[in-house]
Amino acid sequence: MKQLQLNTPRLLIRNLRTEDLNDFHYYRSNPEVIKYQGSDVMNLEQAAGFIERMKDKSFGTPGEWVQYAIIDKATKRLVGDCGIHIHLQDRRIGEIGMTISHDHQQKGFAKEAFTALLTYLFETENLHRVVETVDAENNASIQLLKSMGFRQEGHFIENIFFKGKWGSEYQYAMLHTEWNTRKP
Ligand SMILES: CC(C)(COP(=O)(O)OP(=O)(O)OC[C@H]1O[C@@H](n2cnc3c(N)ncnc32)[C@H](O)[C@@H]1OP(=O)(O)O)[C@@H](O)C(=O)NCCC(=O)NCCS
Repeated sequence: MKQLQLNTPRLLIRNLRTEDLNDFHYYRSNPEVIKYQGSDVMNLEQAAGFIERMKDKSFGTPGEWVQYAIIDKATKRLVGDCGIHIHLQDRRIGEIGMTISHDHQQKGFAKEAFTALLTYLFETENLHRVVETVDAENNASIQLLKSMGFRQEGHFIENIFFKGKWGSEYQYAMLHTEWNTRKP
């Protein structure tokens, strides 16, 4: 059992806790925030159920997404959440998801959290590759990946029926060797 805890200058990444519920529900119930995500808006009960399912999960079960809290250490409040998925067939491949509350976007929090996650995945867990699939209209997310030094590998055209219409996606990836030359 390995419960993840990562510190950055401003943030703490740890398992979600029951006490995070109100802050979590606040942005996870905002249609703009979840517009490009697989999940839908959550009511309070759904948000509580989600935290309950996540709060005791340990890192690294292949095929499973674990969603973690992103805490602003200055206020001790939840400002977003991030997920890690380890590939079912090969645990040297991972994927990261990131959501920052609409009240806290464009302050560099996603980049700071992403950097800590990549440092952990590549340098502690020795992953070979991190891959990201992003909606082609999700400009904030695309900018985040470019800013992190991810390399675009694919552009899939109307490959996914998503929230009532066909959507297109980009695939980005970073190899461990690329991280070694691109890390901030
Ligand atoms: C994508 C998201 C996580 C970015 O979070 P954030 O904390 O605002 O991002 P940061 O402040 O760390 O910015 C990272 C980079 O992206 C750029 N960026 C962030 N939001 C942007 C926007 N709306 N438009 C253009 N660029 C943007 C920043 O300028 C920065 O680039 P730089 O390093 O070159 O200066 C946030 O917009 C979000 O939670 N969106 C909704 C959820 C979502 O769609 N998640 C992705 C799918 S899983």
